[in-house]
Amino acid sequence: MDIKQLKIWLKDIQVQNVVNSDVEVVNNSPLIMLGKGRQGAVFQVSDDVCVKVFGNEEDCEREHYALSLGKETNLFPTVHAKGPLYIAMDIVKGVDIREYLQSQPLSEALSAKLLEMLITFKKIGYERIDHHKRQIYLQLDGSLKVIDVARTVWRDRVYPYPRKLLTSLGEENKAIFLAHVQEMAPEVYAEWLHYIRMEEISHQIYQILLPEKPNKNTLKKLSSQLLTTEDEAKYVAQLQGLVHKVFKEEWIKTMLARGKNPDAVMEKIDEYWDAREQELFPDRDRKGGKDRNSERDRNRHEGKRFVGESRRDNDKHHNRNRYEGERNHDRHRRSGHKNRKRHHS
Ligand SMILES: Nc1ncnc2c1ncn2[C@@H]1O[C@H](COP(=O)(O)OP(=O)(O)OP(=O)(O)O)[C@@H](O)[C@H]1O
Ligand SMILES: [Mg+2]
Repeated sequence: MDIKQLKIWLKDIQVQNVVNSDVEVVNNSPLIMLGKGRQGAVFQVSDDVCVKVFGNEEDCEREHYALSLGKETNLFPTVHAKGPLYIAMDIVKGVDIREYLQSQPLSEALSAKLLEMLITFKKIGYERIDHHKRQIYLQLDGSLKVIDVARTVWRDRVYPYPRKLLTSLGEENKAIFLAHVQEMAPEVYAEWLHYIRMEEISHQIYQILLPEKPNKNTLKKLSSQLLTTEDEAKYVAQLQGLVHKVFKEEWIKTMLARGKNPDAVMEKIDEYWDAREQELFPDRDRKGGKDRNSERDRNRHEGKRFVGESRRDNDKHHNRNRYEGERNHDRHRRSGHKNRKRHHS
């Protein structure tokens, strides 16, 4: 392919993104446009090569990266050249699945190829294992080729089953495809069915919630029950709990950031807090020691918090677990408060 010539032609092609619409194209080159979408426009360069010109560099990078993940497979057009705003690649010939299914039935063999395609997507690391039927082409030799792959990678939100492929097939072919999958891969079928069912339920709930008008006046009256500042004693206790929680959370973050062993310092903090609590609330039950656990006793009882984990201080995942431990601890602590109260009365 003559890259120099291609670059000259590309100077005469301008492609601009348009919100919620296909790109706008100004083409003063001799190249014929094969098609366009929201991300770019595709022009024929030779009998076998086309060039996709993008409206922005990120989409171009994304599509190029996605194509590169699949370059060892036979599923995608081969890439010949790339610039910040273009990718030159093989022209995909044959007929796309949308056109094909207009005159032909969805055979078991085609369903098997679609399932194999999804397996390949997963294997090469695509995040979205899904594709619209019009972006999937059947070749003369019966193999599949896929275009427009930018949206398979770098995603914030992904669906756990091929939602777009299934819906794009239409009700009848969707049912046929699912029946084929049920036979070829029953466990996958069961999972998909589960997600489809969840989606149906979500849809039904939305329909129920939509016309429901919350009674704001009643809610305003009832919501006074949630207020906490009127009863001075309760307010002080709750505020203390809140400040205590913030203090501990911040302290844990600081200790982890400093690479300290939180076990040792935790002991001290608990001792300190127990002393403060005793000072502030001398009337609190200390009798017997059985029911009124001190901060330290409660921590010991919880057991799992920091013990034996200090070696892995730099392991983020582990730190999160420890944080969870702390949250469990607080849950435990709350129930401790409840028990204490009951004990008082
Ligand atoms: N490699 C190719 N070979 C032949 N035709 C192609 C090729 N790539 C794209 N096309 C044609 O150009 C059209 C637009 O391409 P494509 O779908 O990749 O654009 P897009 O802007 O990324 O689309 P979308 O808005 O769906 O993301 C396609 O529908 C197809 O007709
Ligand atoms: Mg695209």
